[in-house]
Amino acid sequence: MPSIEGVFAVVQTEWIPPSVDISVPSMARTYDFLLGGAHNFAVDRALAEQVERVMPDARSAARVNRAFLGRVVRHMIGQGVTQFLDIGSGIPTVANVHEVAQAVDPRCRVVYVDKDPIAVAHSELMLADNDHAAIVHADMRDPAAILGHPETRRLIDFDQPVGLLVLMMLHWVPDEADPWGLMATYRDALAPGSHLAITHVTADQQDERLTDVTDLIKDSRSADQLTERSHDQVLALFGDFELVEPGLVGCAAWRPGGPGDISDTPEMNMVIYGGVARKP
Ligand SMILES: C[S@@+](CC[C@H](N)C(=O)[O-])C[C@H]1O[C@@H](n2cnc3c(N)ncnc32)[C@H](O)[C@@H]1O
Repeated sequence: MPSIEGVFAVVQTEWIPPSVDISVPSMARTYDFLLGGAHNFAVDRALAEQVERVMPDARSAARVNRAFLGRVVRHMIGQGVTQFLDIGSGIPTVANVHEVAQAVDPRCRVVYVDKDPIAVAHSELMLADNDHAAIVHADMRDPAAILGHPETRRLIDFDQPVGLLVLMMLHWVPDEADPWGLMATYRDALAPGSHLAITHVTADQQDERLTDVTDLIKDSRSADQLTERSHDQVLALFGDFELVEPGLVGCAAWRPGGPGDISDTPEMNMVIYGGVARKP
């Protein structure tokens, strides 16, 4: 008979893929903690708590970003989009893209992409019975692997408009990896009428506190390191797609529909830029 402690240890660890080092934080898990999720470890919670010390109410910024996600998915469906590619989709939480989209139109198809093994493992579990959605384990720096993946090809018709979501992800891609060139490759793969949504951390209004957050992440030895970017740098990620109103703004200001869309802490409404653009 295993001891109670032994049983507890099995319950605690059986969902952890063997490749995961739980002694360094991952940004997928730290963000999961900020959103109130359960798929994170002590090292992630410790980092999140340090972040909250220098940036109180950081979790409301994460919530505001998730609310933006829901609004843009519904907006895109209103524009005729029924297929979505969500790159850097994260650990499943409430109101995931397929749930928002399929609640509006059950025919919607969704391909999630993430490089984090825990995000992938939990997405696989969540999607086991959903034939209209899948998760691809890949790094966004390898567009060919994502665009050519059999699941992507099964679920997405690139001759029809696609909703490409790249939310809270590109600030983990350093300038040396050329996020602008990578986004051009993704944009080129899409049909006219496709839409691109991006959210991205900025220090435009928050210089000192965001520098402190960046330093905390650096000290944590996480494989993910934060590159905050300016309005012009984020704008350039949309290329020649046409921004829809109100343009690239603090994501809480992008067509808010209710109190849950906006943080009570004004700075948290400005720390993440959000925008949606259409391919002409
Ligand atoms: C902060 S979470 C955002 C989750 C979700 N998109 C949202 O906005 O709520 C960022 C996710 O991007 C993933 N990510 C970071 N760099 C990536 C890369 N190069 N390729 C694929 N995924 C990446 C992380 O693993 C993490 O799950």
